[in-house]
Amino acid sequence: MFLTGTMQINTQGHLEIGGIDALQLVEKFGTPLWVIDEEGFRRNCRRFKEAFSSWGDVLVAYAGKSLSNVAICKIVAQEGLGLDVVSGGELYTALQAEFPPERIIFHGNNKDQEEIRMALQVGVGRIVVDNFHELDLLNSIAGEMRCRADIMLRVTPGVEAHTHEYIQTGQIDTKFGFTLPDGQALEGVGAALNSPNLNLTGLHCHIGSQIFDMDSFRHATNLMMEFTAQIQEKTGHEMADLDIGGGFGIYYAEGDKPTYPEEWAEAVMTTVQEKARLYGLRVPRVIIEPGRAISGPAGITLYTVGSFKEVTGVRKYVAVDGGMADNIRLALYNAEYSALLANKADQPPAEIVSVAGKCCESGDMLIWDIELPQVEPGDILAVFATGAYNYAMSSNYNRLPRPAMVLVNQGSADLILKRETYADIIRNDMVPERLRNE
Ligand code: LLP
Repeated sequence: MFLTGTMQINTQGHLEIGGIDALQLVEKFGTPLWVIDEEGFRRNCRRFKEAFSSWGDVLVAYAGKSLSNVAICKIVAQEGLGLDVVSGGELYTALQAEFPPERIIFHGNNKDQEEIRMALQVGVGRIVVDNFHELDLLNSIAGEMRCRADIMLRVTPGVEAHTHEYIQTGQIDTKFGFTLPDGQALEGVGAALNSPNLNLTGLHCHIGSQIFDMDSFRHATNLMMEFTAQIQEKTGHEMADLDIGGGFGIYYAEGDKPTYPEEWAEAVMTTVQEKARLYGLRVPRVIIEPGRAISGPAGITLYTVGSFKEVTGVRKYVAVDGGMADNIRLALYNAEYSALLANKADQPPAEIVSVAGKCCESGDMLIWDIELPQVEPGDILAVFATGAYNYAMSSNYNRLPRPAMVLVNQGSADLILKRETYADIIRNDMVPERLRNE
């Protein structure tokens, strides 16, 4: 199940990805190494696009927060998707990739003036307004810049998705969006309609991430359509867009049962269409923002195994040359991962080990209790589904240089992110004159 895209075990019994033996990648680029399967990534883009487009007018906007750099934005642009960005940095990256600005959706709960100016200047397709402060700020900056901003309002529908509480966002007690049940969202709509420099095109919601349960999506879509009807009835304003966010869950480890894009599409689109009929509304353009489901399964991380520690009667720790600095998801969310030894991919399991990183912190673990063939120093561990929220959340904790990232496709491998060097680590360090030696 964790072998997706072009991943397979080759005749030498090694893991292969993008038509290349993982061991060759390691030889050429070193470890830790993030590897992105271009074909797998593109297939995931197409699958969402095709599944949803078969139901009507849909924009699939890839959520760049899951994995973004210039090469990735180029691929997303080539696949004809839109792009959800959440900061000036993500917007800048997209623009460097010549991503068509009209297909960009700009999110964020605290966009600053500079970010807002940048978004208006380049003409992003939609700005998703998160709160009253931003409504005012955007209206006045758009006024100064003599333009009218196309906006959607982010609504918090009060849907509790079944996922880790840190990645739930649709419930009431969250920093994001205008709350629906207490009338704040309706007030926000009123304020938006009274803002001369804003053009309210639609509503947005995002209920959380790594969600398997289609009912939470149906429920949120229902509430948003009801609200759309309420707005039209109360104000006469017709909503052209309905953005239901991202959050589509993927397979990480046993027990994860992902729903296919076709099933999501059916659940969301039939709900939209039924409710439009029921309330006599025009069917809005639907926007979805999958991040993890596109980038996650397309990425693996290769590590070299180093030291071991056996805690008698408890467990065996196996340490690799990366850890929480390149994948903080276990430490943060208790995330689970699948892995294999790339150089022993055809060998049966022989022991249960726990995979630790090399950071100075007990919580620096990558996987608890995984069955692997006999693990030895020098083995190459491949961790699956690390394309999303690994590089994106990486750090230089312990002053570890960030790994390189390669894009593999049909037997070729190209760097899309250089490995950081020690010189990169101190690049922005400054030493005040008074600390300098005579
Ligand atoms: N749209 C909005 C407004 C979002 O806030 C997010 C994710 C997405 C789309 C994309 O969600 P996805 O399809 O990737 O699940 N760092 C966490 C995930 C945080 C997600 C934040 N928002 C993790 O590593 O699991």
